[in-house]
Amino acid sequence: MSKMEQHDAQVTSGRLELPVPGVSPSITFQVNGVEYQHAAPTTETLAQYLRNRLGLTGLKTGCGEGECGACTVLIDDQPVNSCLVLAFQVEGMRITTIEGLENADGTLSALQQAFIDHGAIQCGYCIPGMVIASEGLLRRNPAPEDTEIRRALAGNICRCTGFLNIIKAVKSVASANARAVPE
Ligand code: FES
Ligand code: FES
Repeated sequence: MSKMEQHDAQVTSGRLELPVPGVSPSITFQVNGVEYQHAAPTTETLAQYLRNRLGLTGLKTGCGEGECGACTVLIDDQPVNSCLVLAFQVEGMRITTIEGLENADGTLSALQQAFIDHGAIQCGYCIPGMVIASEGLLRRNPAPEDTEIRRALAGNICRCTGFLNIIKAVKSVASANARAVPE
């Protein structure tokens, strides 16, 4: 069971001890491989925390209620809408934002480059969420079928591209991964 699932189970069973309203106890977590220890206001969302305190403005906020996917980050490799998570809930968890996907030498990852190469970006507002949701899928399954790609991106809305080139970009990485897997 992932930490987010454990958290959900705690909420469901009523065992989660919420901090008193105000400021949370100091929590420790990782963002893009860097460890942070911080207390956060108990009303602050993870999206607000990452953008406003850590300056990770690659992730976008649109609806603020879990409908658009613009704020998607990976929490322990699972795509999550960071507008629906409170910052104090990520104790011990590992968060990845779009800034954390680039290669060690600062070049774009194969997935990021594929979005450019396939003309999958127009205004770009949805793209960090699209790339992160795709990254989560590829970490679970390096060579997904088209239907899995479409399902993985079903929670991410794009008002510009018509989705086709986004699917093609992810598919190109999936196909390259499939070719790289020894028979
Ligand atoms: S801003 Fe989080 S899902 Fe829309
Ligand atoms: S590229 Fe504009 S919303 Fe997707």
